[in-house]
Amino acid sequence: MPHASSQRPSPGQPSYRSSDHELWDAVDAEGRRQESQLELIASENPASAEVIAAMGTVLTNKYAEGYPGRRYYGGCEHVDRVEDLARSRAKQLFDAAYANVQPHSGTQATLGCLMALAEPGADVLAMSLDHGGHLSHGHPKNASGIYYRFHHYGVRRTDERIDMDQVRDMAKSLRPKVIVAGGSAYPRVIDFAPFAEIASEVGAKLLVDMAHIAGLVAAKLHPSPVPHADLVASSTHKTLRGPRGGFVVCKGVEELKAVNTAVFPGGQGGPLMHVIAAKAIAFREALHPSFADYMGRVVANSRALAEGLMARGLRIVSGGTDNHLMLVDVKSKGLTGAEAEVALHGVDLTCNKNLIPFDTEPPMRTSGVRLGTAAITSRGLDVGDMALLAGWIADVLEAPKSEAVLKRVRGAVAELCQKKPIYASAAVPIGQAH
Ligand SMILES: Cc1ncc(COP(=O)(O)O)c(C=O)c1O
Repeated sequence: MPHASSQRPSPGQPSYRSSDHELWDAVDAEGRRQESQLELIASENPASAEVIAAMGTVLTNKYAEGYPGRRYYGGCEHVDRVEDLARSRAKQLFDAAYANVQPHSGTQATLGCLMALAEPGADVLAMSLDHGGHLSHGHPKNASGIYYRFHHYGVRRTDERIDMDQVRDMAKSLRPKVIVAGGSAYPRVIDFAPFAEIASEVGAKLLVDMAHIAGLVAAKLHPSPVPHADLVASSTHKTLRGPRGGFVVCKGVEELKAVNTAVFPGGQGGPLMHVIAAKAIAFREALHPSFADYMGRVVANSRALAEGLMARGLRIVSGGTDNHLMLVDVKSKGLTGAEAEVALHGVDLTCNKNLIPFDTEPPMRTSGVRLGTAAITSRGLDVGDMALLAGWIADVLEAPKSEAVLKRVRGAVAELCQKKPIYASAAVPIGQAH
């Protein structure tokens, strides 16, 4: 597969002939891997060719510390336009008054928000990692957990949904500075209104991390956190299908000022202008009606896959899914999550082991795998394909050592991958169509 940067000559873009075969061989091999495996990792998604092209431009050469119109370097007139486009598109997409598009990643966005909302050492209440939270929500080895005193709520045992009574009780007794809502493995709708009510009752700020559901929020398939939260942090590369990166949106100018300072100079130096250009392109793609249609198919595929797996006797955490992901309890087939991940990888189905609520296994083994449908929907898989996929997954998990089963499923996956390639698929916008 030729790499994108050799395909798009434009003013100021240097042409080159690479002699670095060692490096480009690895890039090309990764391209072949992506085309030949079905990507079920819920946080991944193939960006459009235009998004990828933007990251291989001369914008990478420019230092632009500061914000548009107030930079610490000269020569920023063109990158100012780039960042202004990215900010205004982010604001339009999420109906937000303000945006900061500089965070290098979702974690940087969340850390910037924490710095903006609370002093180091402050109490913060967030969802625990093993109930679907994220490392940047207070893991002891993450800066969030090193610099803030995190406390964690979880889901109820009975229905595996967020226990709002526990959130309220903990908030009342701890009086945290910040309450965090959002996570990386929560398959249900999050109702932000009661979080905002509780935060206001106890005098806390509400930070929503919508990294996983940003695409659904953009498509109005998940309630927006923007009207409820003081700050909303996100990644750009999961359901939103942009470049690897982060951003923050909010409704209040004071919160914007605080987060701007927290991102630069607080936690970062010069912004990655080539990535900000790619974010602008991704926001524009997400504003197109075809994106809402795509997200609708992601959710329909997710439901169909969960139903197919349940029909084969696999337990799905919380009994199903409302969004792009599900947690499969593989203990119901006598496996650990680690064993299931390896078995599925062996038939070119890529996923990750994941803790499930009240897991009795340690994080490197786990009782579950997390499956998502954002990436496979981008390459054009539909609900009919989900029925097949559910059958293949169940076949492999029931007989992970059977060479005959593995060979049959591997062959079927290869055939589907060939039929629905990533970068020849109409499901992935290639940039010229809008
Ligand atoms: C809820 C949540 N927040 C933040 C992140 C971190 O994003 P990044 O990898 O861009 O730092 C993730 C990544 O999985 C996530 O799930």
